[in-house]
Amino acid sequence: MAKLIIVSNRLPVKLQEKDGELSYKSSEGGLATGLGSIYKKGDNLWIGWPGLVVTEEAKQEQITTDLKPENMHPVFLTETEIKEFYEGFSNETLWPTFHYFSQYAIYDQQLWETYVEVNQKYCDAVVAQAGPEDTIWVHDYQLLLLPSMLREKLPDSTIGFFQHIPFPSYEVFRLLPWRKQLLEGMLGSDLVGFHTYDDMRHFLSSVNRIVGYGSMHGWINTPNRSMLVDSFPMGIDYEKYSGTAALEEVKKRERIYRGNLNAEKIILSIDRLDYSKGIAQRLRAFEMFLESYPEFHERVTLLMLVVPSRDAVEKYKELKEEVDEMVGRINGKYSHISWNPIQYFYRSYPLETLSAFYRMADVALVTPMRDGMNLVCKEYVASKLDQKGVLILSEMAGASKELSDAILINPNDINQMVEAIHQALTMPEDQQVVHMRNMQESLQRYNIHHWVSMFMDRLSYVKIKQLSLA
Ligand code: UDP
Ligand code: G6P
Repeated sequence: MAKLIIVSNRLPVKLQEKDGELSYKSSEGGLATGLGSIYKKGDNLWIGWPGLVVTEEAKQEQITTDLKPENMHPVFLTETEIKEFYEGFSNETLWPTFHYFSQYAIYDQQLWETYVEVNQKYCDAVVAQAGPEDTIWVHDYQLLLLPSMLREKLPDSTIGFFQHIPFPSYEVFRLLPWRKQLLEGMLGSDLVGFHTYDDMRHFLSSVNRIVGYGSMHGWINTPNRSMLVDSFPMGIDYEKYSGTAALEEVKKRERIYRGNLNAEKIILSIDRLDYSKGIAQRLRAFEMFLESYPEFHERVTLLMLVVPSRDAVEKYKELKEEVDEMVGRINGKYSHISWNPIQYFYRSYPLETLSAFYRMADVALVTPMRDGMNLVCKEYVASKLDQKGVLILSEMAGASKELSDAILINPNDINQMVEAIHQALTMPEDQQVVHMRNMQESLQRYNIHHWVSMFMDRLSYVKIKQLSLA
């Protein structure tokens, strides 16, 4: 029977080892949490890295066996591959460039060569698992070369590619020394998907100017095949988030946390520790808010969860220090015996805890400098069962294209953020309900199942169209 093979750098579970004992924990990040709801159907398979260096063959076999009933197949990366492919080329070259932080990007031939080798390693793992009828769905910037590598080995296969992060304008993308090879890698797909129309446009313009292929309504005619590029804004598993928020256990946690925080109003911020998320700018805005609106002292608390991420990468280490320092300074300046303006937690939380935080937050402050989509803001909306609460959202997040009922801000405009915080904290309840209801209706309809079926239907359509053109 034909199956769907999902391939991404990271599996939806992270392996942990303590005193020789292996255990598995859910991965953070939108790709893993989003697709985590759908891959288990039927014979589907998810191929990816389990997040830990494992050198012993017996242990690798053990992990492969453990993951098999969960429909997962591990690809093991060596320490050098993690350094050069994952931390290096993926997160010190591609990530900053694609998020318009090209001043942070490193251009290093060695990192590139390892990126090519590791993409080949994933290719071999997929080829070993794939049958002729299977559909292969490759995800994200760590595997841009994989579609073409697969096409070479499995010329007739059905290959989709989805990019979860932005695709930058041609003027930024062209800075990459390996720009042509990267595009050619993606062009091995039958369908390439992005979260927004702008990302899609930027990609088509780079293909045109760098590879020389024009396009018509998203169709590109390569010398061998026609392929399609389109936008598919990713949704969330709405029922999962609204259902969790309705659990008695979650309501109980909310009451306990609210009691402990001792604040009339709670502003919530949740992200991986990443410079693309605008955490430092957000803190600056909150500090200015406290300065401008002293009547909110002892009444409002910023609950800030920062999930550790890529902590071996220099820019991430520097950001950690900056955030620690800022939180310390702001709390030092404004705290009272019974009130801390910022409650800061540097760790990850399970779904039930996140859900209680979403429930109790009067305001969610989601202000990335750039974000492919951003699922946290959607999860917040889905968790607001009483429809009270206000979302402040950056225009630079893909989600802002759908959530026009949020208070939209430019994260570089600190004054605008300060005023947005004030507006959110003083918004009458009937207005909150109207905006929240509109956002909920849209997220309920355009959920993760809708996203998957849109992508899959489009992919089947491309295959049919290719046959009719052949
Ligand atoms: N998340 C999590 N545990 C945490 C904090 C966040 O699992 O302690 C999840 C969160 O629920 C969301 C994802 O991490 O689904 C973050 O996705 P998003 O698209 O907002 O940002 P990304 O990390 O992918 O850039
Ligand atoms: C973003 C990326 C994913 C990545 C996730 C977590 O969501 O789009 O590809 O998996 O961040 O980052 P990490 O480096 O821990 O896999």
